[in-house]
Amino acid sequence: MGFIAKLFASLIVVLIAVVGFVYSGIFNVSAQWEDPALLRWLLASTREASVESRAENIKSPILGSATQIKNGFRSYREMCAVCHTPPGGTDSPIKQGLNPSPPNLAVAEDHAMTEAQLFWVIKNGIRMTGMPAWGPSHDDAEIWDIVAFIKALPTIDADEYQRLNTQTTQGHGHSGSEPMATTQGHMDNTDNHSNPVEEVPAIEYIDNGTHAH
Ligand code: HEC
Repeated sequence: MGFIAKLFASLIVVLIAVVGFVYSGIFNVSAQWEDPALLRWLLASTREASVESRAENIKSPILGSATQIKNGFRSYREMCAVCHTPPGGTDSPIKQGLNPSPPNLAVAEDHAMTEAQLFWVIKNGIRMTGMPAWGPSHDDAEIWDIVAFIKALPTIDADEYQRLNTQTTQGHGHSGSEPMATTQGHMDNTDNHSNPVEEVPAIEYIDNGTHAH
């Protein structure tokens, strides 16, 4: 057999093996088995490099105003806390079942990302993980508000989070003890007979030196 014929024969064998593997059901698609260390490293490194390069040319606006943080908080409570666990909260069943596990964004070391990188990740999501893209449903200004909130998150403890929760839930000024990750159902604004919502005081914006560029 000539070289070309051998190569062709080998390709056919590989193709049959791949198709056989796909249809055999041998591969376990369960979310429950942990990736082997090498695969984990490969996926994490690919993700990091991809986010870094794609966020390189994004310019962050000035972030950290009280209004931005309040808006970002609302989005976080409604869309992120269920997976990323709010300060003082416990891991939801969704977080417990996700593989890879969503990092705790309240811990600064767990998300040493620049503002631009956070923006890119929130807008685009991370494929093949549970991290959704929020770009299809939110405009850039709304996403920057979320970035501002996440940058402030390491300075927000459980009490502060609960205070924001109370202040941004109109008509529920007295509901300080409501469980936080589950307030969506109480956002009905129907009994707003109570005092107008107070202005949220500015939370000190910490720039933790993660600006790589
Ligand atoms: C359905 C669950 C889920 C929801 C809802 C969710 N995330 Fe995620 N998120 C994840 C998972 C899982 C990862 C980890 C991906 C990985 O390891 O590559 C992640 C990763 C991230 C990261 C990257 C952190 C890092 O250091 O790698 C950021 C930032 C982030 N999410 C922000 C948000 C924000 C902001 C929201 C709400 C607007 C949100 N996520 C909503 C599941 C979720």
